[in-house]
Amino acid sequence: MGSITNSDPLFQPLQLGALSLSHRVVQAPCTRMRATKESDGVYVPNALMAEYYGQRASSGGLLITEATPISRYAAGYPGVPGIFTPSQIAGWKAVTDAVHAKGGLIICQLWHVGRATVPSFLDGQPALAPSSIPISGAALDGSEYSSNPPRPMTIPEIHSTVAEYAAAAQRAREAGFDGVEIHAANGYLLDQFLHDNVNTRTDAYGGSVANRARIVLETISAVSKAIGPDRVGLRLSPYNYFQDTRDSAPQSHWVEICALIAALDDEVKPSFVHMVEPRFDEVLDESAKMSSLPPGSAKPNLDIFRAPLKDAGIGFIAAGNFTGENARPKIAGDGADAVAFGRWFIANPDLPRKLLEGLPLTKYDRTTFYGAEPAEKGYTDYPAYA
Ligand code: PHB
Repeated sequence: MGSITNSDPLFQPLQLGALSLSHRVVQAPCTRMRATKESDGVYVPNALMAEYYGQRASSGGLLITEATPISRYAAGYPGVPGIFTPSQIAGWKAVTDAVHAKGGLIICQLWHVGRATVPSFLDGQPALAPSSIPISGAALDGSEYSSNPPRPMTIPEIHSTVAEYAAAAQRAREAGFDGVEIHAANGYLLDQFLHDNVNTRTDAYGGSVANRARIVLETISAVSKAIGPDRVGLRLSPYNYFQDTRDSAPQSHWVEICALIAALDDEVKPSFVHMVEPRFDEVLDESAKMSSLPPGSAKPNLDIFRAPLKDAGIGFIAAGNFTGENARPKIAGDGADAVAFGRWFIANPDLPRKLLEGLPLTKYDRTTFYGAEPAEKGYTDYPAYA
């Protein structure tokens, strides 16, 4: 991409903490399951992954990695690369080098799935969660989640998990990442604490919004102290249904959560929050998601969450069913500082250039999202515009 000289809202520079972006087309985190197995639960980034992320890098463009387990027991899913062994750090270093070689930026999304895993992925140990409420339906290994309900975390386990996020952030910097995004969305561990239908704790980590948000705020602080708040972002999804989270009052609860984030001291205040639009769902299409939202939340949008964050100088990335057409007014109307694209970035390695020049987009193939045979298929074989 050449230097930017136009007035397209997507192609204006943006400072997100320490990250200097030259445009606002961000690659959203997307699980792709192409890492190499080293041992049970330990998957390592490989040369194909470096090629994939390198293909999607652009000068001053920000990529967010796939959700990346912070420890051996944070997920255990096949093909999902972690950031907890020296081999994984070395594998990610080749990824970050490939992105930096094109002048791009890349941050690592730090992940703990909480109750969204099963003992067969955890050397037989139970999954940990805020409360002992299983997800309905089957896990990736085919077993019913309800046959192995999660074990509520003890307070020492909560503290050690917060420390694991900070240690993982440090390893991400060693691997050459420009920063991290703490994954507190989409029904995974931190989001399980936030959502009141799955957090029924009666201690300091449950009950009030401030209590449910405590682990998230502690994680932000620990990670910010480890690598600097100007390299830390956070992902939230108030209207998430995925993994059976469904809050009783997403609007008022996440406004309060955002106010708590905005009130953090400068030395731990994150540089951006990345939010998923209410219309987006992992399973339902947009109209089904909108019509399934509780009465009174008709046509909700993210503006009520952005406002307190913006007042505190915290950047805002929006994600969920964006195209060039709806992303431009989102930014021009100050609904977000940047927009993250998942599915379109999967199928269009040169998405920023295509959006800049109005070139046609390649349609994505959902059947190859989560691994394929061969691994290149639907991964590194989408062509750039000729
Ligand atoms: C997935 O692997 O399907 C997945 C992972 C992380 C998310 C959402 C979905 O945030």
